[in-house]
Amino acid sequence: MKPINVGLLGIGTVGGGTFTVLKRNEEEITRRAGRPIRITTVADKNLELAKKVAGDGVKLTDDAFSVVTDPEIDIVVELIGGYGIAKELVLKAIENGKHVVTANKALLAVHGNEIFAAAQKKGVMVAFEAAVAGGIPIIKALREGLSANRIQWLAGIINGTTNFILSEMRDKGLSFAEVLAEAQRLGYAEADPTFDIEGVDAAHKATLMASIAFGVPVQFDKAYVEGISKLDGVDIKYAEQLGYRIKLLGIARRRDSGIELRVHPTLIPEKRLIANVEGAMNAVLVQGDAVGATLYYGKGAGAEPTASAVIADLVDVTRLHTADPEHRVPHLAFQPDQITELPV
Ligand code: HSE
Repeated sequence: MKPINVGLLGIGTVGGGTFTVLKRNEEEITRRAGRPIRITTVADKNLELAKKVAGDGVKLTDDAFSVVTDPEIDIVVELIGGYGIAKELVLKAIENGKHVVTANKALLAVHGNEIFAAAQKKGVMVAFEAAVAGGIPIIKALREGLSANRIQWLAGIINGTTNFILSEMRDKGLSFAEVLAEAQRLGYAEADPTFDIEGVDAAHKATLMASIAFGVPVQFDKAYVEGISKLDGVDIKYAEQLGYRIKLLGIARRRDSGIELRVHPTLIPEKRLIANVEGAMNAVLVQGDAVGATLYYGKGAGAEPTASAVIADLVDVTRLHTADPEHRVPHLAFQPDQITELPV
């Protein structure tokens, strides 16, 4: 069986996890994908680190553009993050006929419409399970598992850093700054933790879920975004005395006038399951008209949980790679050239 060749851009925590899990579960992954999946090339500025993580037999380069234009590469995995160079690389990969797997929620929430349209035109896939809620297969649940449903709303704890901060402040009475430093040490926080604490990261993820759930373009610019930076220990204490927990929720709801999209701290009665999601864990509630309420829970960040989602996309893309391009299902719930923008 001819292996599928993968080029990996950026070998941080998730890249390392992807190597580990691909190796450990090689047999199962190959069986499910129908072909072996091989990371043949890694691009990273830190070649020493890349060598340490990737080991022997993998081509290393500090020129990511050489990877996205390499005719031997079938799938590009983008783990660089951010909107800058990552956008150029993803578009270049698509232009060169590569499928793309990415964990980059910021890039897709802001430039997704352009990227998905380019991918559709070229007949390649852009898969992004790892971009939302880490290891929880929420994109696949929305796109496949719930495909019979008219989704009415979804609400989730989709930022591990802020949930960790809120949990630790409540349980240990620690200050906001102390817990944020710990979240950064544990590797949950974004490179710029403002994105976590001001709700931007959660809004990126809610935007992507809303797009899949409701079949609308990504509309991050229309989301209401409020983080947890203005919360004080005393707010958490008073909420507790009244029988509530404060959680930062990402909410998307279908309204007659359009789609409502918002992120803000929310009081949740303490008996609710979602109120008891603690630490860096994530959970997403989805209400469909046929299925009713469903709840998805798991690790929202970290090396192997996120690698689990990256590899699931690699398996998906590998299975579909050989399908007739005319009949490939794009990794979207909508056709970018047929959408009507809904007011948010
Ligand atoms: N900073 C993110 C979080 C990482 O805390 O959830 C995973 O997307």
